[in-house]
Amino acid sequence: MKSTLKNKLKMRINMKNKINIQLLLFVFLSLIFNSTARAEGGPDLEVVVKYSLGFTVLLILLLVWLVVVYSERNDFSGEEFWAPFKKVKYYLTLTTPPEKEKDLLMDHEYDGIRELDSRIPPWFHGLLWFTVIFSIVYMIQYHVIGSGNVQEEEYLAEISFAKAERQILIKTGAFLNEETVTFTDDVGALENGKQIYLKNCASCHANDGGGLVGPNFTDKYWIHGGSIKNLFTTIKYGVPQKGMISWSNQLDPIQMRDVASYILTLQGTEPANPKAPEGTLYIPETEKEQKTDSET
Ligand code: HEC
Repeated sequence: MKSTLKNKLKMRINMKNKINIQLLLFVFLSLIFNSTARAEGGPDLEVVVKYSLGFTVLLILLLVWLVVVYSERNDFSGEEFWAPFKKVKYYLTLTTPPEKEKDLLMDHEYDGIRELDSRIPPWFHGLLWFTVIFSIVYMIQYHVIGSGNVQEEEYLAEISFAKAERQILIKTGAFLNEETVTFTDDVGALENGKQIYLKNCASCHANDGGGLVGPNFTDKYWIHGGSIKNLFTTIKYGVPQKGMISWSNQLDPIQMRDVASYILTLQGTEPANPKAPEGTLYIPETEKEQKTDSET
């Protein structure tokens, strides 16, 4: 009778150990799963959901573990909870118990100092094999198949990243200056230019560009040149001695391009009180070409 009870208990313990090992495996796998999710993407919703799911699963596992351990053994000392970990630790270190150490003693002795022929701990052994296997996988992936992100690919990735960065800088106007500026016919940009014009420039150049203190923008005569680059330069650096200030502190390059483009759209319109033309006649490059074409 007694022995069968013992056997039953043993079976129970064995079963429980099995469950614990499966639980450990599951925890381990879900941890790996989580870390790969982190490596792949930014903090988008999917990753967040994955994380919270993983966390919930871990919590549930912990609860299940606690219930299994405590309900079966009715042991509240905490010993049972750590038992699986202790087992893992035991297999990883496999230390020889002190009472058996004399079997490991080696023959030599120096001034009473003797050496134990201890085995290498399994975890260290495993590490060695891991590095060996890793190096083989690495070599095959990077040097035989070439599917890894080798230097050249890294370089190309960096180049495309820099190109994308440049696009962003162009959008923010960092490269926009009197050398690179071009006329924009974008409706939004021209509306933006109009608002800037009415707010900052109309007091001297009139709402309709007919000119007041400053010159008329609707005729073909310009003091400082009538190309978009000329206008941008005048707006950016101003003509302080003539009462036209530099706007580079108040307006960013995009705003200066927008307002310069807007001013050019005023060409040929008829203002209420046009100021007499000032400066010299400016013929745009495109019209010059057309003229020479028709002359020949
Ligand atoms: C305080 C008055 C004043 C304000 C405000 C002003 N300007 Fe002027 N602007 C002038 C004067 C005066 C000139 C003529 C400069 C000269 O004779 O060289 C001028 C010239 C110009 C020219 C060159 C015209 C040409 O014939 O070459 C441009 C372009 C121009 N302004 C754009 C602007 C823009 C854009 C704004 C607003 C952001 C603005 N101005 C605000 C007074 C002003």
